[in-house]
Amino acid sequence: MKRVLVVVGGGRPSGNTAQLVDAFVRGAREAGCQVERVSLLQTEVKGCLGCNACRRGRPCVMRDGFADLVPKIEGADLIVFASPLYFWTLSSRIKALIERFYSLAQADENPPLGRYERYPDKECALLMTAADNLFWTFEQAVSYYRFALVNYIGFRDRGMVLAGGCGPTEGAPQIAQTGHLEEAYAFGRSL
Ligand SMILES: Cc1cc2nc3c(=O)[nH]c(=O)nc-3n(C[C@H](O)[C@H](O)[C@H](O)COP(=O)(O)O)c2cc1C
Repeated sequence: MKRVLVVVGGGRPSGNTAQLVDAFVRGAREAGCQVERVSLLQTEVKGCLGCNACRRGRPCVMRDGFADLVPKIEGADLIVFASPLYFWTLSSRIKALIERFYSLAQADENPPLGRYERYPDKECALLMTAADNLFWTFEQAVSYYRFALVNYIGFRDRGMVLAGGCGPTEGAPQIAQTGHLEEAYAFGRSL
């Protein structure tokens, strides 16, 4: 059974992102996956300090929710990053979590070009919502996802749902009118 960890990096409680995640989780559970969902609004994870205590064999000095997340990350086959688009990229909560992956790296005697350490062997996926639906709307977010999580950390990309056209946060969530919930459900169901 595939173990899926969905990390939700913000969004309104019943907003577009929450609905997108609900649809994906429903599909993944129907596909037989074991799914755990963590909100970074409830489990606060701060960004890395760069103190390198983790490189000297010591636990991370930050006192926050990351320690509780580590066994969930280690136990997952697939980590799904879910976020609203904030200022053309992933939310700061997701970015902070990715920085803390630094403490999970292992020494690698023979790393491939451009990679210096070995990270846990995982699959990853991206679920995002945005107000706009232009051809560049998700460009920075997808670029960062590919650079940091796929090319550098080495997670294997399982796919993305980029839900543009969900309307601004001043109004009611509009994702139900877009077709992206069906897309997210089908993605989860395909796992
Ligand atoms: C701080 C902030 C920044 C945002 N930046 C963008 C943006 O750069 N591009 C965009 O299309 N939508 C932007 N939005 C709109 C949200 O991405 C969009 O409404 C999203 O679906 C909200 O998710 P939620 O309903 O889960 O809260 C922004 C919203 C907020 C609150």
